[in-house]
Amino acid sequence: MLIDQFQRVHDYLRISVTDRCNLRCRYCMPEEGLAFLEPNRYLSFEQITEVVTVAAKLGVRRLRITGGEPLVRPHLEQLIQRLSAIPGIDDIALTTNGIYLAQRAQALKEAGITRVNISLDSLRPERFAKITRGGDLSRVLEAIETSYEVGFDPVKLNVVLMKGFNDDEIDDFLRLSIERNVTVRFIEYMPIGHEGEDWKATYLPLETVLERCRVNGWEPVMLERGIKGNGPAQNYQLPGAKGAFGLIHPVSDHFCQSCNRLRLTADGNLKPCLYWEDEFNVKQALGDEQKLADLFQRALEAKPETHEMAKALHGEEKSHNPTLRRMSQIGG
Ligand code: 5AD
Ligand code: SF4
Repeated sequence: MLIDQFQRVHDYLRISVTDRCNLRCRYCMPEEGLAFLEPNRYLSFEQITEVVTVAAKLGVRRLRITGGEPLVRPHLEQLIQRLSAIPGIDDIALTTNGIYLAQRAQALKEAGITRVNISLDSLRPERFAKITRGGDLSRVLEAIETSYEVGFDPVKLNVVLMKGFNDDEIDDFLRLSIERNVTVRFIEYMPIGHEGEDWKATYLPLETVLERCRVNGWEPVMLERGIKGNGPAQNYQLPGAKGAFGLIHPVSDHFCQSCNRLRLTADGNLKPCLYWEDEFNVKQALGDEQKLADLFQRALEAKPETHEMAKALHGEEKSHNPTLRRMSQIGG
């Protein structure tokens, strides 16, 4: 079993299949200048399958495929098919920006994806294009409809809140959770790979969302049991709502005590924590099951009790070195 020194059981692995993306969301990647991996640095599908086979023997049950944008990795369905066939793996989810999802949804479902999280930071076309630096909102909206049609369940939307960018749309997103069977997940903007003045000026604590509920006279009910695949989100439902909304607030109130996840980057680094720089490259252990299992244990031993994102707000000194990777190079 993958249990760390703080008794946290790890049964969840997030797999980034590429660091590339067809968008350039402001909070995730710089507009230009970020070097991408050469394709030969990516773990192959065979290699990812090998790593996951060992992880499953160690107790990993759930996977999430991330990027960059995972759908820019050619033939992703073939990887999903292989991963679904691994004994012990009983759930494979996908986080995507949705641009290529409508035409791939059916094939992904057939390959074994059970549910999707779609990033959607604005419901206004021009603003969506501004935040993503060029994205076409209509394609994402189409992807959401297709997700219902092919039976992804639940459909979750990831909304990264940014002061001055989309905080005036909180009500619209809350209304969407009333009207549609969708889970709107508000996410605090995290300082991953950059934590300068831009981040501080744009970061918004999620208390704002509950404040908007109060202003509107909506009384959210906290959901006791999570929504399928529940991770760190605190989930709520508004009166009469078809859907729900979730709050993910790593900065203002971290949830590290219940962390159950490890991450694998596209270039084969096992990351015990999203925030810190520690990484363990699986490439040196491939072909040797015991070595791979040992690497997982080493990663767990190195896993700190908590991240220190909030310290970045006040420029306080940290206990370890934060990662220099951007979100697109980790997968969120
Ligand atoms: N802070 C919070 N969320 C982020 N994401 C990307 N970068 C950040 C960040 N700096 C989100 C994306 C995607 C998910 C994987 O992570 O919107 O939905
Ligand atoms: Fe691409 Fe997702 Fe990062 Fe946006 S958040 S740039 S869609 S990887």
